[in-house]
Amino acid sequence: MFEKIVAAPADPILGLTEEFKNDPRAEKINLGVGIYKDESGNTPVLATVKKAEAILLEKETTKSYLSIPGTAEYGLAVQELLFGKNASIISEKRAKTAQAPGGTGALRVAAEFIKRQLGDVTVWISNPTWANHFGVFGAAGLQTEQYSYYSAETKGMDFDAMLSSLDNAKAGDVVLLHGCCHNPTGIDPDADQWLTLAKLCAEKNLLPMFDFAYQGFAKGVEEDAAGLRIFAEHNTELLIASSFSKNFGLYNERVGAFTLVAKSADVADTAFSQVKSIARVIYSNPPAHGAAVVTEILNDAALRTEWEQEVADMRDRIQEMRTLFVQTLKDLGVDADFSFIERQNGMFSFSGLNKDQVARLKEEFGIYIVGSGRISVAGMTKDNMMPLCKGIAAVL
Ligand code: LMR
Repeated sequence: MFEKIVAAPADPILGLTEEFKNDPRAEKINLGVGIYKDESGNTPVLATVKKAEAILLEKETTKSYLSIPGTAEYGLAVQELLFGKNASIISEKRAKTAQAPGGTGALRVAAEFIKRQLGDVTVWISNPTWANHFGVFGAAGLQTEQYSYYSAETKGMDFDAMLSSLDNAKAGDVVLLHGCCHNPTGIDPDADQWLTLAKLCAEKNLLPMFDFAYQGFAKGVEEDAAGLRIFAEHNTELLIASSFSKNFGLYNERVGAFTLVAKSADVADTAFSQVKSIARVIYSNPPAHGAAVVTEILNDAALRTEWEQEVADMRDRIQEMRTLFVQTLKDLGVDADFSFIERQNGMFSFSGLNKDQVARLKEEFGIYIVGSGRISVAGMTKDNMMPLCKGIAAVL
């Protein structure tokens, strides 16, 4: 039976990591997948995570199942991160949160919820976007369309084009937005643009859905929720997929959350009963450890302060690498203007390198970046900067 099966294409991001691992060259550099590396090129466990784990080791008394949506403490901690501690959405009980296995798990639950409960709507996705978005929404049988977002000419946002594409969205359609640190461009709407988008969704009766995987990597943990909070003021219904892979460095613990906001607590409760039945048939109930760590850190004042500093340190190091990257290319005599890279947010830089240049970087220099030209700045270090920039200078 199996001999009829045709091989699936390699994943554009994780497939690259597999190729990288198999590359025997000692001087290879992996700037494909979005994983934070410190100055020595390691991805350490955050100090706050280690402390929270020590506490949990002491206080954990059982490995019994969690409930389908995970613990109430985790759900509340996630909502406070998203909407702010004293948000009316929380006190009015209009938000319900299910712990999910990673941001991808949260997106998959969201996609299934949309398909089963909202019918044959279209999900509008930015062009470009994270490569896996199409797969996740497509897997639930949803139709996707792209809205314009990025101008290759200005290396910035094409907001007018974005609005005119969203003009084609129909009432009930879903608009997927990146909460901050747009992946792959690193370009986020400003406050006025968030407001315009929030009003547009409300007026056209579009359902906003946020993919929020980098909270804290643009300006700060609170600051980065500004766009979502503007939306929450103007839209009574929202969906949010959170990931804590990057901001807690909990990549392999697969910790994320799906949050649903409805007009009232009653409507939220009923809708959430459907979310629970979706989770039950996909993974039954979530893994406990990662979410317990996140809860411990967010609910302990000292750990929370220390964690925010750890996030700030990661953010600052990435920014330093952006500046060094632009400067090193300049020093190597590269004429092209790469200064836009310093204005982008988050882990990634949308470099403008084309497919052939990306292929040459891999083949000739052992430098791995995603086919779209997306570079993980979070993987740059002072040590790999010169060979990286020399390779880029050679292929330009
Ligand atoms: C990325 O975009 O590199 C990360 O979100 C990791 C992934 O799962 O693709």
